[in-house]
Amino acid sequence: MALHKLFDRNVAWAQRKTCEDPTFFLRMAEQQSPKYLWIGCSDSRVTANDVLGLDPGEVFVQRNIANIVHTSDMNLLAVLEYAIEILKVEHVIVCGHYGCGGVQRALGRERSALVDHWLQPIVMLYRKHRAVFDAIEDMDARANRVCELNIEMQIRRVASIPIVENAWARGQSLHLHGWIYGIHDGLLRDVGPTLASIEERDALISIDQRVHRHDEPVSGVRGHAIDAFGETTETE
Ligand code: CO
Repeated sequence: MALHKLFDRNVAWAQRKTCEDPTFFLRMAEQQSPKYLWIGCSDSRVTANDVLGLDPGEVFVQRNIANIVHTSDMNLLAVLEYAIEILKVEHVIVCGHYGCGGVQRALGRERSALVDHWLQPIVMLYRKHRAVFDAIEDMDARANRVCELNIEMQIRRVASIPIVENAWARGQSLHLHGWIYGIHDGLLRDVGPTLASIEERDALISIDQRVHRHDEPVSGVRGHAIDAFGETTETE
């Protein structure tokens, strides 16, 4: 697609938005007050607003390759601080996705680019528990299991950042969530953990212990079924 086409698409989008809601951009110009911070993968197929069905203004976003929380990442820390202290978001969602190319690369042998430095936390987790992961014979299933655990690991990291600890210490309402997105079906699943306090964080089992316990992530559809019929349902 030629680049000028992108401008044409932009004009069409802005006109469509204005037709549907004449004051949309007037409201947007005033302020943003998102309730959610999304920390996700840069993958072009996993865009926070589309996946959540939200409009501009409703979700604050930070994305990087394989949704990693490096606790010295100035970009992430600045976004997190602004989201929590100024915007006062109530939910921080770390959302990974199945079929993540970053995770797949971390499990492979190629080590020749800056991205391999970036992916190191995943590489370390994989190496440490290689026996468990390599016992999963299907390569996609193996990588997907690491995708799930990577999310759980990053939630633990978010929960240990002083910005978050301080928010909890002063009684601010702040919930952390670990979710995974299925590129193959468009559905989000809750991987966990969900945390809302220092006590809940400290009560978590370690990521090394989690490697040995696999709970099936729960989609919204299945979550509703469980609420209605109890845990035994097979509905998905
Ligand atoms: Co990815």
